[in-house]
Amino acid sequence: MVKPDGVQRGLIGEIVSRFEDRGLKLVAGKFMQIDQALAEEHYGEHADKPFFDGLVDFITSGPVFAMVWEGADATRQVRKMVGETDPAESPAGTIRGDLGLDLGRNVIHASDHEDPGSNEREIDLFFDDDELVDYERVDEGWLY
Ligand code: TYD
Ligand code: MG
Repeated sequence: MVKPDGVQRGLIGEIVSRFEDRGLKLVAGKFMQIDQALAEEHYGEHADKPFFDGLVDFITSGPVFAMVWEGADATRQVRKMVGETDPAESPAGTIRGDLGLDLGRNVIHASDHEDPGSNEREIDLFFDDDELVDYERVDEGWLY
């Protein structure tokens, strides 16, 4: 998900391009405003953290671009492309390392491969089943 700072900075296209260039397959995308209830559920694992209220305020502060990408080992590969939680500690070449500097404004959210099921849970939270598009891409036979 491109977070509100990434949307305001005009980084949706840059971020989509990185996943396309990597060979991942887009199966859903939605430009949307997250409300308080969705924000609190999405970030429920952090409910007792001191940064929780600020995090919910930030993620609801403007529109986001939510996406579902498919591919071999996609959740882990996307996290590697995203980088570390803190952009300042994120290596150059990662999305947060190239495009961010501030921990609270780190451009993108991605499901966590170290939290099994978080990908499916977050897809269910943000998308209806009929918003996931089942199609074959012409290059699939080459990539996989
Ligand atoms: P977390 O799930 O730990 O990071 P990630 O986004 O890499 O999965 O935390 C969720 C978000 O909370 C994180 O993207 C930025 C914010 N955050 C803070 O504002 N302060 C903090 O100390 C941490 C750990 C996270
Ligand atoms: Mg996380």
